[in-house]
Amino acid sequence: MLMSIEEKVKELNEKKNKLKLGGGRAKIDQQHAQGSLTARERIETLLDKDSFQETGIFAKHRCANFGMAGKELPAEGVVTGAGSVGGRMVHLASQDFTVAGGSAGEVHSDKIVQAMLGSLKTGTPFVFINDSGGARIQEGIDSLAGYGKVFYHNVMLSGVVPQISLICGPCAGGAAYSPALTDFIIQTANARMFITGPSVIKEATGEEISAEELGGPLSQMNRSGVAHFVAENDLVALRICKKLLSYLPSNNLEDPPQLESDDVIVPDKALNSIIPAEQKKAYDVRNVITRLIDGGEFLEVQPLFAANIVVGFARILGRSVGIVANQPSVLAGALDINASDKGARFVRFCNAFNIPLVTLVDVPGFLPGVQQEQGGIIRHGAKMLFAYSAATVPKITVIMRKAYGGAFLAMCGKELETDRVFAWPSAEIAVMGPQGAVNVIFRNEIAQAEDPKKKRDELIASYQGTFAAPYAAAARRDVDDIIEPAETRRHLAMTLDILRTKREFRPMKKHGLIPL
Ligand code: HXC
Repeated sequence: MLMSIEEKVKELNEKKNKLKLGGGRAKIDQQHAQGSLTARERIETLLDKDSFQETGIFAKHRCANFGMAGKELPAEGVVTGAGSVGGRMVHLASQDFTVAGGSAGEVHSDKIVQAMLGSLKTGTPFVFINDSGGARIQEGIDSLAGYGKVFYHNVMLSGVVPQISLICGPCAGGAAYSPALTDFIIQTANARMFITGPSVIKEATGEEISAEELGGPLSQMNRSGVAHFVAENDLVALRICKKLLSYLPSNNLEDPPQLESDDVIVPDKALNSIIPAEQKKAYDVRNVITRLIDGGEFLEVQPLFAANIVVGFARILGRSVGIVANQPSVLAGALDINASDKGARFVRFCNAFNIPLVTLVDVPGFLPGVQQEQGGIIRHGAKMLFAYSAATVPKITVIMRKAYGGAFLAMCGKELETDRVFAWPSAEIAVMGPQGAVNVIFRNEIAQAEDPKKKRDELIASYQGTFAAPYAAAARRDVDDIIEPAETRRHLAMTLDILRTKREFRPMKKHGLIPL
């Protein structure tokens, strides 16, 4: 019998409502019982109200293996489309764990790739909410090929539009590798992320470890540095995602959004005494950062990994900046392998997306040690030199205290075509610290002295007299100006204004060869 249009509309709505239930009420309840949202609830929470346009809800797999023939997998286990966050468009994919564990078959991956292409063609960020057992086992080579396409497109989008991954459930195999190819990973407290789970590890190596210990945030942020943010739950993860997006341009051809700022700049006298007078005394550099930025609002990236360097986003008079700072309260702020990787990656992200870099220096050097040398500190430390040298965004450096040796150069020293280097009067710029230096250059004098200790102390004092102030560096124009700390925010804001139209052209090449 011929159906009326009304009947067809009713049928359509019924079909859609059924598909929107994903794996069904029981599985949704299971998801909620674990304190998690569903794939659709995550999208609703992230996007502006009523802004989501879904594509591909009727998608169907083509697999007939292992009882899959005719098996209904609503929306193919992934909700895809576009919508706005704070009025700015994003494309996104949200895997539905209630449907075959969010596993990725050929069509599932194809839907993700379509959303990614939407990002690429429209110059809008791609957000991928992962909650998946990885490649769908029943589809064999087709599901592997599907993930291969997702990986390829992650790379196509890299550096063109920001890519943010949320890890909101047990993410195995491809569901861990695709996020690893994106710019930021936000992991919830009860999510797990690994290439192979505990049972495979036990079989392969005999090692026993729980899923939490292996792939929980403690492992993937603190130890491996794979995750960039840890959130208590989905709601917090989505809030972090929104905040992160607010600092970023939609693509590499745009500048980051400039917010209205009614913040006035007044000298901040507290900064004049924020650095301890004792050269070796530690302090928390985050207390300096928050005094330099709008509203003290700092979005720190990877706070629990390589804490001897602090990186994150902030605004100065409404303008996004990326901040990189040595942290004297951890390893005296020395640069080690992990800190170099963390810093260099952040610098490259900011450069790719036109975010000016503000670098705060208090660095005693690269961390000495056998483990560091054998672990390749030369190769890893070189990434900092490479990333800063390659960066063409405005680069502003403030030397607060120690600026020793190659580590100073690696913290955006003047010679890396840094636009402005300011020094506080407390700055000390030298090849190395006084103790180490006198041992090298006055070894014989100290050994032959009547009182070697007294002689050594005298030589240290003389060395400090030469290098314990930034005037020698300013005379050689390694420092553009020596400023009162209280005036730092004003100088940063002025410099950002002056450099607003900065353009720097480099020789054409396929790509540089950052030491990986
Ligand atoms: C097909 C899968 C699946 C998968 C889970 N499911 N993973 N179906 N392919 N990869 C299904 C389950 O059969 C189950 O279906 C439902 O999803 C929920 O899974 P459970 O095991 O009941 O849930 P849970 O106990 O929470 O455990 C989740 C899990 C576990 C840790 C993710 O399912 C698991 O270990 N899955 C396999 C992970 C894995 O090794 N994946 C392959 C990765 S290889 P029903 O019908 O019962 O609801 C890969 C290669 C890509 O991704 C390339 C990498 C470089």
